[in-house]
Amino acid sequence: MSVRAIVLAAGKGTRMNSDRSKVVFSVAGRPIISWVVAAALEAGVDDVTVVVGHSAEDVEAALVEGVMTVVQDQQLGTAHAATTALEVMGDVSEDTVIVLPGDSPLITAATIRALLEAHADGDVRCTLLTALMPDPTGYGRVIRVGERVRAIVEERDADEAQLQIDEVAVSTYVFDGAGLVDTLVDIDNDNEQGEYYLTDAVAAMAAEGGVAAIAGADAQEVLGVNTHEQLAAADAAARHRINREWMEAGVWMQDPDTVYIDASVRLAAGVRLYPGTHLEGDTQVGSDSEIGPNTVVRDSVIGSGCKVWFSVLRGVEIAHGVEVGPYASLRPGTVMADSTKAGTFVELKATVLGKGSKVPHLSYIGDAAIGEDSNIGAGSITCNYDGFNKHRTVIGDRVRIGSDTMLVAPVEIGDDAYTGAGSVITKDVAEGSLAVERSAQKELLGYADRRARLAESEGE
Ligand code: UD1
Ligand code: CA
Repeated sequence: MSVRAIVLAAGKGTRMNSDRSKVVFSVAGRPIISWVVAAALEAGVDDVTVVVGHSAEDVEAALVEGVMTVVQDQQLGTAHAATTALEVMGDVSEDTVIVLPGDSPLITAATIRALLEAHADGDVRCTLLTALMPDPTGYGRVIRVGERVRAIVEERDADEAQLQIDEVAVSTYVFDGAGLVDTLVDIDNDNEQGEYYLTDAVAAMAAEGGVAAIAGADAQEVLGVNTHEQLAAADAAARHRINREWMEAGVWMQDPDTVYIDASVRLAAGVRLYPGTHLEGDTQVGSDSEIGPNTVVRDSVIGSGCKVWFSVLRGVEIAHGVEVGPYASLRPGTVMADSTKAGTFVELKATVLGKGSKVPHLSYIGDAAIGEDSNIGAGSITCNYDGFNKHRTVIGDRVRIGSDTMLVAPVEIGDDAYTGAGSVITKDVAEGSLAVERSAQKELLGYADRRARLAESEGE
């Protein structure tokens, strides 16, 4: 006996007003459908089949390897979707089948496990998850007679009394495989929407006395995303959950409400996060590093003991004891070794900064390799683009680049060399020398007096 999961994700999600399927919208940086699949796998299901339809390719692209998909060409209803999945799943008669909606990202592995356990313990053909909703609008209502579940009635098909019921179905059910296959065959589309409802399988099984329900789910966990408002609510809830987990793991946050951490991010204990910090994509931060306020870090690795504030980092790698900001922009391909610095109003792109080297103020350094313990003076720029191609600048160890140096690439500055402030360096500089490129200073003596006399005569 195996536990097989079916995830329903063929619908378009009309109320999102988008060409994309609603299940590929992201919640804490991860597509909605990926949350559902991850929870199912974490709960220990043996395999997952996702029913796709609208923008099938986008949905398939969001899935991890090993997840099966099946295309439901026409969305004729949730029962039709389940039937479509079963067509590719082989013989399930000895298996347990769990059905999950692809649009509810917050369901946890613990809840799925509890539902599977309840089903295994009970002597029924179906066990469904229900939730008590303060506002049940839009959901199927759970009709019970005494303790026993008799049916699920869709809002559109419900009468006045049924609409008052606040226990709702959340498209999450566990079935005995054989029972599900038998029951699906008999489901018709005789309802207000003309769809084949999976909820009707519940009524059919209930008629044979075979349905249990656990009303365990907290309303937030089963929140379905049908609108942008619900998407924002799901995102906020996921974020709170993520932040709570990181705080439990030893991460300090001054104001968790303003900290945005994607599900894919990894943090060490002792990390300190200030307000307005966004950690996105494939990002890692090492112990005792301090990020923020007001900083965005995407797809980057930050080592330990770093300070990064009021800055934007994407696709960068910084080692240990590195200082970034305030107001630095670090672009892809930037690699900063231990004890380096990119200071105020500094932009780095595809630049490797050797141990102990610093770019403290007002510089653009791109396509460059800088050795160890070098200093780039304020206002210096690598002129890496000649209008046609990008060129490299190579700077050695212990180099002092004077303030406002223009390094016209391709150009190479040897170890221990200097450049004079304001120089436009177009030729390589040898090891240990000083390169100065600027015209001799002129001085017009008595200029102020001459100017004053000129102003007087003009005035007459
Ligand atoms: C469904 C349930 C309802 C429950 C609600 C919230 C039925 C008949 N109703 O209603 O009891 O309260 O979800 O969980 O099942 N889908 C397909 N193929 C289809 C139709 C739907 O894959 O042909 C997928 C959708 O992409 C979605 C899920 O099934 O992920 C639920 O479909 P949706 O149209 O949102 O159902 P509701 O009307 O909300
Ligand atoms: Ca729905």
